[in-house]
Amino acid sequence: MIVGVGADHGGFEMKQELAKLLAGEGHDVLDFGNKTYKGDDDYPDFAIPLARSVASGVVERGILVCGSGVGASVAANKVHGARAALCHDEFTARQGVEDDALNILCFGGRTTGTAVAWGCTRNFLAAEFSGADRHQRRLAKVTQLEEEAFAPSSSTR
Ligand code: RB5
Repeated sequence: MIVGVGADHGGFEMKQELAKLLAGEGHDVLDFGNKTYKGDDDYPDFAIPLARSVASGVVERGILVCGSGVGASVAANKVHGARAALCHDEFTARQGVEDDALNILCFGGRTTGTAVAWGCTRNFLAAEFSGADRHQRRLAKVTQLEEEAFAPSSSTR
């Protein structure tokens, strides 16, 4: 699978470790940076390009890491077609894809150990959207909201 990875200073070390593990399992890893540790870099500079790349299909899934995982997920979710979530457990990593078509997994480099993040990553990559009617219906409601954000209607209530 083509997997994008990205991190600011808070997640740099974990991103490097996950990239190595992913490559070791035969994935094509596209690194959106930061490529070297820089203590004052900003997570949107990596989260947004990665999210755009996932949304456009250049990479199939994305892994983002910042200090808590919050900033990275907030930034990524501003991109139309990106569905990012902060994750701490394997169940969420798998079900997020199966039920919610999650395409970007986010971790906190300061809150989660690499072994846990790797277990989550493997579950995330192994999972596929179930396509069940109820999940398609819910996803369609989310997608509709995205469409409205791009073409706001005159009625807001
Ligand atoms: C950076 O120090 C930190 O705020 C950032 O990595 C992240 O945790 C934001 O959510």
